Amino acid sequence: MQERQSIHGTWANRWIFILAATGSAVGLGNIWKFPYITGENGGGAFVLVYLFCILLVGIPIMMGEVLVGRRGRCSPINSMKETARESGLSSRWQLVGWMGALAGFLIFTFYSVIAGWVLHYIAGMAAGDFVDIGRDQAGGRFEALLAAPETMVIWHSVFVVLVMLVVAGGVNKGLERATRIMMPALFVLLLLLLGYSFTTGHFGEGLSFLFSFSPEALTWDSVLVALGHSFFTLSLGMGAILAYGAYMPKNASIGGTVLTIGLLDTVVALVAGMAIFPIVFANELDPGAGPGLMFITLPVAFGQMPGGQIFGFLFFLLVGVAAWTSAISLMEPATAWLVERFDLERLPACMLLGVAGWAVGIACLGSFNFLSDFKLMGMNTFDFLDFITANIMLPMGGLFLALYVGWFMKKAVAENELAVVNARYFQIWYLVLRFVAPVAVAIIFALNLYEKLA
Ligand code: PHE
Ligand code: NA
Repeated sequence: MQERQSIHGTWANRWIFILAATGSAVGLGNIWKFPYITGENGGGAFVLVYLFCILLVGIPIMMGEVLVGRRGRCSPINSMKETARESGLSSRWQLVGWMGALAGFLIFTFYSVIAGWVLHYIAGMAAGDFVDIGRDQAGGRFEALLAAPETMVIWHSVFVVLVMLVVAGGVNKGLERATRIMMPALFVLLLLLLGYSFTTGHFGEGLSFLFSFSPEALTWDSVLVALGHSFFTLSLGMGAILAYGAYMPKNASIGGTVLTIGLLDTVVALVAGMAIFPIVFANELDPGAGPGLMFITLPVAFGQMPGGQIFGFLFFLLVGVAAWTSAISLMEPATAWLVERFDLERLPACMLLGVAGWAVGIACLGSFNFLSDFKLMGMNTFDFLDFITANIMLPMGGLFLALYVGWFMKKAVAENELAVVNARYFQIWYLVLRFVAPVAVAIIFALNLYEKLA
């Protein structure tokens, strides 16, 4: 097959691809979710299992996504179709791309609701609303936000517009430009916060919580959580990484690139933990506080610390930027497909998706107030969308992708895209992708479902 070009554009170089994919990976999953699930699952032992999952499931599947994308050079739907055709397979494989684009769209709707809260907190921190605030007051403020759909609609709308503005700019003038500005900003903010948490005097406590290995804290359930999260945190199973891979220069090595992305995502999660737990301990707060850790516990902590107003503001700014670059990648697969299929310009394609995503998002934020009685399978809209995407669609997408690349696509295609120099490394990757990753994902998938339904 001759070398195809993406009609959407190509990243200027390998590093832009790495930073863009890292922008997708690093998001609410790292800064909001990772610290609180680590807190809930007892710290060190959980972190160790999580690291194994990243290495044995996440990284191999990510390489699979990138190679399919670079081979197909299209939206995930059409890249699946083209690479299936090349290997003489049924065009039904494009269903994997369809499910992914749909999953991305659905995740976008509730992701942008949480991101809206983050924007609200950026403004609140800047205004000094949290200075000297107590625990009950902080809890009360968060509940007041959830009870105020008008406020949430405003911030949710702002976030959707911010995301669509970037996606409408296209690969080079939108995604790449945003990457060049936001990713360095993200790293600088993270380092500032890390430095700040050094000054709290509780840094060691935070470290030992994250890294002290206590096997008795480890349950089968927390293994499950670790495996599922490694998936979500690397943006796998829905085509975001596949879409970004379609814009990757031909001469860049997939193996090294993907390892770098996985490493950066992991480092950001760990650094977020190292920045957050010392603050929590310095104020004698509970590390296992759950999802409220970021919106209730942290504001209390910042409110009571010297410089807390500034660093609280910088913290939420960091979370906002991270959520922004992730949300962009949630919309790119569907946007690219609309452009390919209907020959649309980027702007109308984005407006269509933005308006639709915004509207479904309103139903999500209504879950906390005016729509709280509306239930799907016993869950409110927000929880339902979170459940079917994270627990069903992403694992299924990842499983099918691993099976596709490992068992169906011609081996020569993978060898060619990975530009095999060391046959032994290739063999290891191929074995892991064919056996270890699918079995592990099938197990999480089945157990997650069983737990939820039993
Ligand atoms: N990886 C992102 C995070 O950690 C979430 C995400 C999932 C983004 C899937 C894109 C696709 O927050
Ligand atoms: Na992540």
